[in-house]
Amino acid sequence: MGSFSAEAFPTIALDEAAGELVLVDQTLLPNEKKLLRLSKQEDIWEALHTLRVRGAPAIGVTAALAMALAARDIETEDYSVFEKRFNEAADYLASSRPTAVNLFWALDRMRGVTAAHRGEAVARAKALLLEEAKKIREEDIAVCKAIGENALTLVRKGDGLLTHCNAGRLATVEYGTATAVMYLGHERDYGFRIYCDETRPLLQGARLTAFELSEAGMRPTVLCDNMSASLLETGAVNAVFTGCDRVAANGDSANKIGTQLLALAAKRYGVPFYICAPTSTIDMKAASGADIPIEQRKPEEVTEMWYERRMAPEGVSAYNPAFDVTPADLITAIVTEHGVLRPPYTQSISGLGL
Ligand code: MRU
Repeated sequence: MGSFSAEAFPTIALDEAAGELVLVDQTLLPNEKKLLRLSKQEDIWEALHTLRVRGAPAIGVTAALAMALAARDIETEDYSVFEKRFNEAADYLASSRPTAVNLFWALDRMRGVTAAHRGEAVARAKALLLEEAKKIREEDIAVCKAIGENALTLVRKGDGLLTHCNAGRLATVEYGTATAVMYLGHERDYGFRIYCDETRPLLQGARLTAFELSEAGMRPTVLCDNMSASLLETGAVNAVFTGCDRVAANGDSANKIGTQLLALAAKRYGVPFYICAPTSTIDMKAASGADIPIEQRKPEEVTEMWYERRMAPEGVSAYNPAFDVTPADLITAIVTEHGVLRPPYTQSISGLGL
């Protein structure tokens, strides 16, 4: 493991003694490796909103740990006052980003703890909330590893694998979802050829995925987003693996903008397109992709960011959705910690009993 280990630069960890979240500031990578120590809810909200910490599972884990800290800071012995303030803090964090359902899933798990212990001492609820948050973090590691094991059954040694955005260890606690197959394959000498889409406009593929895989000893190749169809046409890619922010009950899957285009191109060239999703990313309340809220971000991300001088004329509008929905019929399979789901997804997803 290179200098950028999960121990030295955790995606998200809790310093219990200090009462602080510790996370690597992903907006600065790969040029600067800086740890943030956050305890105020406003600072954690800002870190989520500005993508200092990002990626669906990492967003959920951050929210859970943040709620344990929020609970700790509520000074009252009155349980109903405690629960009211706790729920207000949860509502506040829920407003940081709209698309990744893991945020709402984690907050609901934490709200469930306070609801289940009404009538008990506030101090006990605080202790249980801390335990639950730590559990959510630990579970994430096991879930990602299981996704990697399941994904390994879909590939062969020497395969070319293409991924989009960062669904890596920086988007989770360890392993990642779409990259878990790459980490496990690397440990087991699968000799994968790995391609990372740069992922405009925030460059999570180039800045984060290519970085973390390189640090782990892999040799990824970066390509601009508009080059993937041409790469797929060459036959160099045997499978596409991406992460996901929200899977609807019918299998439609929202992920980083550009994922749908990749799925369309993969279909055209007969390359299997796999979505990797922990079951915490499945939203049974969304019947289809039409029910998934898509985050719209500021135009400057398209017109100015990363350039020394702006590269679009002053005053021009920019279309900047952060995610798109890949329709279920373009998805070869959805890889979860419980196994590989195949179409028809309405059936295979409901079979999970979520
Ligand atoms: O805007 P981001 O960087 O949070 O978007 C992240 C993605 O789209 C990931 O692919 C998704 O959250 C899955 S992370 C395992």
